[in-house]
Amino acid sequence: MESKEKTENKPLLDEEQVKYAREIFKGYAEKWKRIGPLFIKAKSEKGIDVKEIQNKILRLKKEKGALILSHNYMLPEIQEIADFIGDSLELAIKAAESPNDLIVFCGVHFMAEGVKVVSPEKIVLLPRLEAGCFMADMINISALRKFKEKYQGLPVVCYINTDAAVKAESDICCTSANAVQIVKSVNSDQVLFIPDRNLGLYVQRFTSQKIIPWDGWCNVHHRFRPEDIQKLREQHPDAVVVVHPECSPEVIDLADHVFSTGGMVRFAKETKHSKIAFATEEGLVERIRRENPEKTILSVGSPKTCVNMKSIRIQDVLTALEEEKYKIDVPEDIIEKARIPLIRMLEISKGRDFVKQIFHRAAL
Ligand code: 13P
Ligand code: SF4
Repeated sequence: MESKEKTENKPLLDEEQVKYAREIFKGYAEKWKRIGPLFIKAKSEKGIDVKEIQNKILRLKKEKGALILSHNYMLPEIQEIADFIGDSLELAIKAAESPNDLIVFCGVHFMAEGVKVVSPEKIVLLPRLEAGCFMADMINISALRKFKEKYQGLPVVCYINTDAAVKAESDICCTSANAVQIVKSVNSDQVLFIPDRNLGLYVQRFTSQKIIPWDGWCNVHHRFRPEDIQKLREQHPDAVVVVHPECSPEVIDLADHVFSTGGMVRFAKETKHSKIAFATEEGLVERIRRENPEKTILSVGSPKTCVNMKSIRIQDVLTALEEEKYKIDVPEDIIEKARIPLIRMLEISKGRDFVKQIFHRAAL
């Protein structure tokens, strides 16, 4: 996904959303009290034998026939022992394709729910229940219902960063890799887009449909500033700058390329450029650096980490396997409804045959 066109960037907050945002911020303060210490611990923990824990995990994984999936943003020691590293959709697809009935999902809560929605017959373990996503928390079912009431009859495109209950009340899902294609496939000249405003505004550059975005954001990607890119260009005029579409429109305007996380991994491998700077979560920058040792891989601005992702420690993965916790449960009726927007997305982005292979139970 790339663009050179500028977009209109009007504030979209109305009174209702401001009220909702305030409630959300109160929730964050509470959440930070629980997640903050875990994050700091995970980053600074000393005196643990990582190798030994990794070996225990690998032994137990074999004994129990488990599959370990790691999101791109996990700590390096977790990525090292994973069977597969990828973005949220790639991981849900991997889980469905694998014969394993036990999945240890190292990522955040909405992603683990997504795995359960696609493969309800499997046991899905999330090593830390507190690992949520600030952006996904910015909309819930009652807020979505109010949004839909206000814009009656308009279809809802939900970004994959949403809870299963929110997906269940949306028309079609999208990821950052296919958002433009999915919105264009919707037969309506106006579309509600939740929860990421930046991604919604990015899609707006490519379609004449009017996008009405929810005012959510990612507190990792939204923190990159245009000055970070300007400074990087001064220091490294030969670097190509790649940003995630969850970045602000002002940052996107200054980038050379805009790619989803999966797109960034592919671009780094395939490009002839030998110096690339990324504006995304640092775990992914580290993965790209590891996989492309011959290239210079830089972070735009100061390295930024997702506290939710980084609250999962290698010991938590071991405990998850030992005690088979925390099991992700999604009510049956929500699973049935949440599959529909996911199936619609996959039919458009990957075709019907692919959907038949992945979803064992017919839902449409
Ligand atoms: P992916 O769907 O690319 O994994 O991204 C999710 C996310 O949280 C991006 O910040
Ligand atoms: Fe959510 Fe942003 Fe963390 Fe991704 S990086 S999980 S969008 S808070």
